[in-house]
Amino acid sequence: VSRSIARHLTYLHHAMKGNPWLDFISMGLGIQRRAERFKKSWEPHLDATRSFIEQNTRTGGSGIALLGAGRLYDVPLKALMERFDHVCLVDIDSSLAATWAEARKIWGPRLITEFRDVTGVLQEWQGRLHACNSSRELLWFLHENPPRVTFSYSTVVSLNILSQLGVMWRDRVFACCRSKGFDISPEIEHIIAVSSARLELAHLESLANDASEIVLVADRSFVTIGRRGEVVEQEDALYGPWPDTISGFTTSGQASWRWEIVPVGGEVAHQGTVHEVQARCFRRT
Ligand SMILES: C[S@@+](CC[C@H](N)C(=O)[O-])C[C@H]1O[C@@H](n2cnc3c(N)ncnc32)[C@H](O)[C@@H]1O
Repeated sequence: VSRSIARHLTYLHHAMKGNPWLDFISMGLGIQRRAERFKKSWEPHLDATRSFIEQNTRTGGSGIALLGAGRLYDVPLKALMERFDHVCLVDIDSSLAATWAEARKIWGPRLITEFRDVTGVLQEWQGRLHACNSSRELLWFLHENPPRVTFSYSTVVSLNILSQLGVMWRDRVFACCRSKGFDISPEIEHIIAVSSARLELAHLESLANDASEIVLVADRSFVTIGRRGEVVEQEDALYGPWPDTISGFTTSGQASWRWEIVPVGGEVAHQGTVHEVQARCFRRT
């Protein structure tokens, strides 16, 4: 109960400060709640992620950036601090400040923290979304291409963030349509999907911008399972294709596993949720 109250207070604190990323804060607090509640179910996924990163990152270069570092559940921080001169944690969710400050107390200034939107465009797009006066303007605006972003580290890890980019953006567009009374027509739904796929693609291109080594951990599909583990429903996690290759890079490591997000009966009677996760390490050719 006290953890739940602490989470509510964290949310309220950021809401009162007018934090523009409240949807991400709320999602992050949801991750924290599930990680604590379903600790046993989550451990194999967190172990698999940590060991994939540990086994597939080489030392050297200008350091390593972890995009979507979050609460560091799936980050092999000790191993990375021993291997790299600089480790940079990147996330949009500023409610992580206390967790990251604790880590900095242990590791000092070689651990860099950056609160930043990895798409580089959400704040601007949000403003433009709200400036739209008709669904026609919205359709027009959602055709835009997001920019490439630079991460100036030689190793970049995209840490289960790819499937969130489209979903979080879609939810913002839906919320805007509802608040302005725009119909969510099939045409709007289609263009939201196109826009979300472009955000995913721009993220992948951004990873390839400067890095010589990319580690990508990303959901491939979301599965609802029944009482005996049978598949009740399954959907692709990404709007675009799962990136099996990245141009200019070769694949040097790969793995896949299941992440039992919610065990059967954990939140819905007789049902649970599993994410199929894939990991790849790409090296510049
Ligand atoms: C599924 S979590 C990864 C788990 C995380 N490593 C942990 O241990 O808590 C994805 C993370 O990506 C972050 N994220 C999502 N979209 C983002 C964006 N556009 N820019 C920066 N961070 C983002 C979220 O805030 C969240 O912490």
